[in-house]
Amino acid sequence: NSILVLHGPNLNLLGTRQPEVYGTTTLEMVNSACVAHGQSRGLSVVCLQSNHEGALVDAIHAAKGVHAGIVLNAGAYTHTSIALRDAISSVELPVVEVHLSNIHAREAFRHVSHIAPVALGQICGFGAQGYLLALDALAEHLAARNA
Ligand code: DQA
Repeated sequence: NSILVLHGPNLNLLGTRQPEVYGTTTLEMVNSACVAHGQSRGLSVVCLQSNHEGALVDAIHAAKGVHAGIVLNAGAYTHTSIALRDAISSVELPVVEVHLSNIHAREAFRHVSHIAPVALGQICGFGAQGYLLALDALAEHLAARNA
């Protein structure tokens, strides 16, 4: 199975961006950890980042028929984008929502996720490890579905 790990806006700056909130791990390090962890779970992981909402919509559309599931950190678009939510509903792929920070412990505007209602589940507050937990969750979900 192939999994798309999709990162939204500002996550290209991971490692230097507000390290007190998001940690010092770079996006490159997150991506290599995802690829390695995926391999150990029999998943082939492809990573993508964009700062553009439409490009993220395009990536979700393109995932259909190519990837078995998506790990998505939509960044701030989580809290604003009905287009991303609709894209997820349209492709009918299992999506695990990830946030490095615990969005529920932060500003009120981060408590709302437009992704959560159409996601398999949400993992937040565990830093970069959250992506690996998300891959585990997807691996379990796909194994159970194909059993
Ligand atoms: C984030 C949380 C969002 O609220 C924020 O806009 C981000 C990163 C996280 O990973 O904790 O860009 O998705």
